[in-house]
Amino acid sequence: MREPAGEPEGPVTQDGLGALLSNVRSLPINLWRSIIRHGAPTSNRTRSQSITNSLFLHIHSARTHRWTLRKSTTLGLGVATGVLFLILLGTGVMLMLFYKPTTAEAYNSIKDIHYVVPGGRLLRNVHRWATNLMIFTVILHMARVFYTAAYKSPREFNWLIGVGLLVLTLALGFTGYCLPWDQLAYWAVVIGTNIAGSTSEVTEALNLDGLQHLAMAPRRILLGSDYIGDAGLLRFYWLHCVALPISMTLFIAIHLWRIRKDGGISRPTDIRPEELIGTPEDELPHEGFSDPNKRYTLSAVVPGSSPHVGLDVENTVLSWPHALKYEMVVTSCILALVLLLAIFFDAPLKEPGNPNVPENPAKAPWYFLGLQEVVSYSAFAGGMAIPALSVIGLALIPYLDRSTRQPGRWSDAKERSRIYQSAVFTLVLCIATIGVQVRFGWLRDWFPDINQIWIILINPGTIVMFAVIAMSVFETFRSRSTRLGAIVFFTGLLVFYGLFTYFGTVHRGPNWDFYWWPSQWPEH
Ligand code: HEM
Repeated sequence: MREPAGEPEGPVTQDGLGALLSNVRSLPINLWRSIIRHGAPTSNRTRSQSITNSLFLHIHSARTHRWTLRKSTTLGLGVATGVLFLILLGTGVMLMLFYKPTTAEAYNSIKDIHYVVPGGRLLRNVHRWATNLMIFTVILHMARVFYTAAYKSPREFNWLIGVGLLVLTLALGFTGYCLPWDQLAYWAVVIGTNIAGSTSEVTEALNLDGLQHLAMAPRRILLGSDYIGDAGLLRFYWLHCVALPISMTLFIAIHLWRIRKDGGISRPTDIRPEELIGTPEDELPHEGFSDPNKRYTLSAVVPGSSPHVGLDVENTVLSWPHALKYEMVVTSCILALVLLLAIFFDAPLKEPGNPNVPENPAKAPWYFLGLQEVVSYSAFAGGMAIPALSVIGLALIPYLDRSTRQPGRWSDAKERSRIYQSAVFTLVLCIATIGVQVRFGWLRDWFPDINQIWIILINPGTIVMFAVIAMSVFETFRSRSTRLGAIVFFTGLLVFYGLFTYFGTVHRGPNWDFYWWPSQWPEH
């Protein structure tokens, strides 16, 4: 017989009230259990469930290979970069509450954040330091991935996504640098937008007047006008606070998802037991992984093998707590470092941006000073051609180097020798070309009437870039190894970027003249 619908009639019984009271008492524990659907993570099963049942933690597999947990495998750089991005998102969203994206109000709103808003100074400092550190860690992370050959199959696409992340990180840094609208920001916008219109240098040099309009289009799109003003600042604001962070979040999600799909962090197939000494081991015994040659398929319904669970399952440990502990250590170190820097060093804020008083020298943020050095010879070469060649070169690495070098281990003696050779060669070439330019001038000083196209093509930046590419092709030819060719290219590019950045930062002063130290700059 069916139960009558609705509440039972009559007075509320003692039992009903008692049950309600007992339910109220156990509400916290029941609420907790409804969210965390298993007991305390004390057994293999509940530890695995802690990972797989959580939206945030299930970017990990339930078990992590012990190779991944060696300190030298990743150096924690990917995690550090991710943590810094989260810090930037958090502090950035709060800064948005106070920042006003108009040329009339931007500077004062930043000043208010710095001097008036409670905690605003710390917030701004943390945001600025996390930006600088993230640019640093993303470059180091890319270098670790490269030197452990972790871009090799099946991770080529993830390397490509990584190159996208590198570009997005730099773009976020630059657009953020422009927002305070102080002298630094204003003149960085001038440099940046001139670069965006630098194709006109080529059309002018070749007398292609009809294409002039087209060449200036990127600058006009970036500024929303022919002049630097409100429309431009709003575009920088939109890029920095909406378009770039959303793209970055999407790219990071794909990046992490791909790491899972590609079978976790890369590792060699011939790991020796002594290489795993010092990595964590499961304290709770597990069963079933007795046959080292057995491949474990995704599930019984999926035939064949899966990169998720390959050979060597017996050398994995539970991600809870081992991988999480490792990530917590990296996160705590990064938080402590950012806080310390933010407490002791203020983010700079100069006078309000003034189009009539050029900042001399007007410098871009440090990570673009290497390019600015080349821009000082030719805007097109430094702002467009060399960055484009570098990004395309980086993106193509996994597709041009198809050698069978195993991923996971750092470079061996042979690879290291090419790293040193390439580094020394590029270093000497950078110093030589810049030295000639500083001491004797360049083509325009020697041949005042020379067509600009020659200076676009031949300047210290293009010479080094061309030499790095040529050296890499030569090495591939000489050693018959695309991996060694890639090493020469990547190392050369890093040294080129590093040395030009150092030079632009330290040795360039007013009028972009050479000075040994900033203390020698003339007073003005
Ligand atoms: C916002 C920037 C980035 C974030 C947050 C990020 C995050 C991560 C994390 C957490 C890992 C796993 C742990 C580790 O390797 O340290 C990883 C691995 C990886 N990353 Fe990135 N990454 C970024 C940029 C890049 C760049 C610029 C590249 C290369 C151009 C790159 C290529 C890779 C590859 C290929 C792997 C797999 C490495 C392996 O299996 O050994 N990532 N990334």
